[in-house]
Amino acid sequence: MAVKKQSDLMEKIVSLAKRRGFIFQSAEIYGGLRSCWDFGPLGVELKNNVKKAWWKEMVQKRQDVVGLDSAILSPKIVWEASGHLESFTDPLVECKKCKKRFREDQLEKKECPECKGELSKAKQFNLLMKTNLGVIEGKQDEAYMRGETCQGIYLNYLSVKDSMRKKIPFGIAQIGKAFRNEITPGNFIFRTREFEQMEMQYFVNPKDAGKYYNEWKEWTMNWYQKFINHQDKIRWRQHKKDELAHYAQEAWDIEYETPFSGWNEFAGVHNRGGWDLSRHSKFSGQDMNYIDENGKKFIPWVQEVSMGADRAVLMFLMDAYTEVETRSGDDKAKHEKEVILKLHKDLAPIKMTILPLSKKEPLQKIAQEIFTNLSSKYMCQYDETGSIGKRYRRQDEIGTPYCVTVDFETIEKDNSVTVRDRDTMKQERVKINELESYFLERL
Ligand code: GAP
Repeated sequence: MAVKKQSDLMEKIVSLAKRRGFIFQSAEIYGGLRSCWDFGPLGVELKNNVKKAWWKEMVQKRQDVVGLDSAILSPKIVWEASGHLESFTDPLVECKKCKKRFREDQLEKKECPECKGELSKAKQFNLLMKTNLGVIEGKQDEAYMRGETCQGIYLNYLSVKDSMRKKIPFGIAQIGKAFRNEITPGNFIFRTREFEQMEMQYFVNPKDAGKYYNEWKEWTMNWYQKFINHQDKIRWRQHKKDELAHYAQEAWDIEYETPFSGWNEFAGVHNRGGWDLSRHSKFSGQDMNYIDENGKKFIPWVQEVSMGADRAVLMFLMDAYTEVETRSGDDKAKHEKEVILKLHKDLAPIKMTILPLSKKEPLQKIAQEIFTNLSSKYMCQYDETGSIGKRYRRQDEIGTPYCVTVDFETIEKDNSVTVRDRDTMKQERVKINELESYFLERL
């Protein structure tokens, strides 16, 4: 990855992500596969929490949206019907000198950004990833890895509607992998060739499209705003007529101001009109018309919320990354700066860490018992190495909202522990048998 081109801040975030087990370069022991990333022990927790938070608001708490998990592979005809085989392209240019390839629409000048060489004429490059199914070479069937998860939703529209006895308006939501042969992946996990989407397609009567479009725009912005600290770094941007995707009648992006290249897209809300269901009706021969209570027949329109799970993780990491002057230096701190990952509590990979002041009995035993008890409800860590200041800093850096310290007073006096808050550094004494209700109130 081109770390050199990124700002200092981005370099620090990438380095923290690696050092503390959030995100690793994929296949790194073999030199790495460009544009693919693996989520480590803390990264998988963070990303799962992002997806859980989305599913809870989008599916669990609503009566009008149901979930789905459709296949990644699909036959070619799906992508002919969706229009992607024809229109899901980016303009590709190649440098005649160094042979590097770029997306023409992302270049500021008409010369190679690497060597200033002359560029070729642009040709349209299709982003879909193709693969083969079957065991006999030459006779294998061509299949496609999905380029957007929502196509699986349209393919299952009739089955979901009938099996769940749904009437429009209703939505189908899905979280899963999508694949695109991006010409210029980069900026850490921002643009990759394998990524996860969180998408919801809301099927409506065309006459109500505007109303629902606005409602879903509001829902989407609210969802992100709940999890970020810097509200001034998020905004809407409307697509101009000439940048609308082939399926879209109207599109607005959620943008976040990144340290690597200013404002960038993190999600989109699209009015897809009747494009998808009428195309799949036509290509499959299945009637996807809807008959309303007055006997009127129409193809439902789709209002789409489309969010990147990896991009959401990136937004929350960038937003949470905070450096402060030394604040927990009980041990003649040699460092000038401390890092705090001010992640929303719902997203923090570890909710609390149990720290015995000494590695010896009986503190260790009590701390282990507290871990056993709390870890049945929350993702916890146990850490007994290093000074207490160092251990606090380790947890601040990964965004753990609470540290629970077991000290000598615990056994000698009050059967209580100290609970320290990541953001305020406030410390409270809490009785061991009240810890569960203490955290229930706060998490
Ligand atoms: N179904 C509509 C759709 O896929 P999109 O604007 O192409 O719309 C939606 O993609 C979201 O998916 C983006 O806002 C972004 O969060 C995520 N996304 C798209 N391409 C991506 C890539 N190459 N790497 C990571 N995330 C990507």
